[in-house]
Amino acid sequence: MIELRGVSRVFRVADQDVWALRSVSLRVAPGEFVAIMGPSGSGKSTLLNVLGLLDRPSAGVYELAGSPVSALSDRQQAETRRDKIGFVFQFFHLVPRLTAQQNVELPMVLAGVSPAERRQRASDLLTSFGLADRLHHRPEQLSGGQRQRVAIARAMILEPALILADEPTGNLDRNSGKEILAVLAEVNAAGKTLLIVTHDPEIGGRASRQIRIVDGNIAADTGHEAGDART
Ligand SMILES: Nc1ncnc2c1ncn2[C@@H]1O[C@H](COP(=O)(O)OP(=O)(O)OP(=O)(O)O)[C@@H](O)[C@H]1O
Ligand SMILES: [Mg+2]
Repeated sequence: MIELRGVSRVFRVADQDVWALRSVSLRVAPGEFVAIMGPSGSGKSTLLNVLGLLDRPSAGVYELAGSPVSALSDRQQAETRRDKIGFVFQFFHLVPRLTAQQNVELPMVLAGVSPAERRQRASDLLTSFGLADRLHHRPEQLSGGQRQRVAIARAMILEPALILADEPTGNLDRNSGKEILAVLAEVNAAGKTLLIVTHDPEIGGRASRQIRIVDGNIAADTGHEAGDART
């Protein structure tokens, strides 16, 4: 599903180079559930942003589902992101003026799905996430856990094969965090490849593989130690 070879990301700030990723190589097979852990500032979000085509590496190769995406233009990357990747953020990133249903419809608007089908699919998915009675609420009228369920529904609505989540429970209380973990685990059980950046040991424990990032390097990888080199 994912292959990184020698991927680095250097930020230049006030004449100083900050190495957020140092020649990272990584393979993730379809259907894996990977937890990415490590100290603050170690490069976890940078790695996820590169994987989600929200950022470009300074060096190295990124292959997604067998095609070298680092070589694509911005426009082609945006299309790939829309078709293949769902991204979930710590602070939800919902559109404040739109209802839950409209937020979930948004990717389908961009993908040219008809209005009737859009409405149906968004309400079906939100209903399956326990939000049948919140379809017409705006984000500010929802709890944090509900907002994150809407955000996950939006990330999944075009059925991407890869779901990336950056601290999806980081801004939630314990119970809402558990709900979100359950929803994400179901998404993975349905066959989606799932990578979660998290400080939450509970999520780490549920994942089938844990990767530890320290100072821009992969310091430990249970998948790798198990000799698992599938792509
Ligand atoms: N846009 C940027 N410009 C300059 N430096 C950056 C930028 N983004 C990240 N960095 C630096 O890169 C390093 C890695 O940052 P990153 O956000 O990936 O860490 P993280 O592991 O996600 O941390 P946290 O757990 O606090 O979210 C940090 O030293 C950070 O200061
Ligand atoms: Mg981060």
